[in-house]
Amino acid sequence: MKVGIIGLGVVGLSFASVLGSKGFSVIGMDSDEQKIEKINSKKSLFFEPKLESFLKNALSTSLEISSDVQKVVKNCDLIFLTVGTPKSKSGFIDLSMIKNASKNIGISLRHSSKKPIIVVKSTVIPGTTANVIKPLIEKMSRKKAGKGFEIIANPEFLREGNVISDTLKPHLVVIGGSNSNSVNRLKKFYRKLYDSKIKFMITNTQTAEMIKYANNSFLATKISFINQISSLCQSIPGISIDEVAEGIGVDPRIGRLFLNAGPGYGGSCLPKDLETIIQFSSKIGVNPILLKAVQQVNDLQIKQIIHLLEKNLGTIKNKRITILGLSFKENSDDVRESRSIELIKILLKKKSKITVHDPKAMKNTEAIFKNKITYADSLLKPLDNCDCVIIMTPWKIYTKLKNNSFKNMKRKLIIDTRRILSRKNLNAEYFALGMGN
Ligand code: UGA
Repeated sequence: MKVGIIGLGVVGLSFASVLGSKGFSVIGMDSDEQKIEKINSKKSLFFEPKLESFLKNALSTSLEISSDVQKVVKNCDLIFLTVGTPKSKSGFIDLSMIKNASKNIGISLRHSSKKPIIVVKSTVIPGTTANVIKPLIEKMSRKKAGKGFEIIANPEFLREGNVISDTLKPHLVVIGGSNSNSVNRLKKFYRKLYDSKIKFMITNTQTAEMIKYANNSFLATKISFINQISSLCQSIPGISIDEVAEGIGVDPRIGRLFLNAGPGYGGSCLPKDLETIIQFSSKIGVNPILLKAVQQVNDLQIKQIIHLLEKNLGTIKNKRITILGLSFKENSDDVRESRSIELIKILLKKKSKITVHDPKAMKNTEAIFKNKITYADSLLKPLDNCDCVIIMTPWKIYTKLKNNSFKNMKRKLIIDTRRILSRKNLNAEYFALGMGN
């Protein structure tokens, strides 16, 4: 079975690299020639632990990279659609890339003798596979689904920073489709990739699509829930949110994962998917009050940091503030919807002087702020002479900061949004989100 993967972003490139390095015959396709060139030179497009070695391995064995969709349709039996579905200007899901890819598949399919299974891995609102993608391919190919091709919804659950392990060991494989033969063929394909313990769920396309949104919405809800409790803890001396999370996390009905309080969730998925499901709900006449509250709590986290700053420094105009950590989470260079980026935008409006540091995300941050802020190439230098340091991303390197590291700060004010330092070891004014002073 030859596999095609259309769209080489985080999901597509990771999937192609893992499949290729496991010996599956794969064509990875993207319309961006620059991307193709970089991948062919065995370089990952973004920082992701272990990805580059899997990519190298795949390219030297069974992964071919191409910008030709016709080649994919002509040769592949299984075609995964992994193009991005970003947020449009209105905040709703932008389906232009997936529509474009579907049209191109359809056109190529017109003169092809293959009857591929087209598998939608991209995150799309319920109904998109059946009501948008399928009809587009049918129209352009002049073939009917079920006769000229098959279509399946198969959402992806991998996390940035863990793409290789999540691709190799998903917690669940959701397959949504109406044709049991093609569902079974896809299941058989996955069985070759995964060990026998991996669980499968077979359903229809719209339920599969909804599972993805419900999953990300629930994760965002868990984070906003703990952040709400964290705000309470912060106002009560002697309470630590981490102990509270530990305590409730032992209850198997709750679980400890995704109960780490912090500056709010960011990234290219949770904020976008929550906004999409909120707008979608309103469109179909459901008032998504809980999900709106989840968003509101998330926005409040940054406001709390600003409040702490102004409470301690008075005006923050011209104050020198150092931000440690720019990526939306550790082990990633992705700054999309990162809370650090939102914080910097507000601080710049208030005319603070910003210096930033991140082990991996400096280049992506520079592309946003250009010369409006200062970029530090070492960890300790940006602390010299600053009025406050804010730890935003829990990179391991920041956990190693000691009392001595802060000795040259103008004012030793530390705001630790992830509680990675310990107050008792610091001779400084130390504020941590979720810790009562
Ligand atoms: C998320 C989901 O976790 C994946 O299952 C899903 O496949 C992916 O979106 C997607 O839809 O493609 P990701 O965006 O890579 O994955 O990152 P997460 O690990 O979910 O973290 C998201 C944000 O929440 C980060 O800013 C992180 O710092 C924050 N977070 C996470 C917390 O503040 N506390 C936590 O306990 C967990």
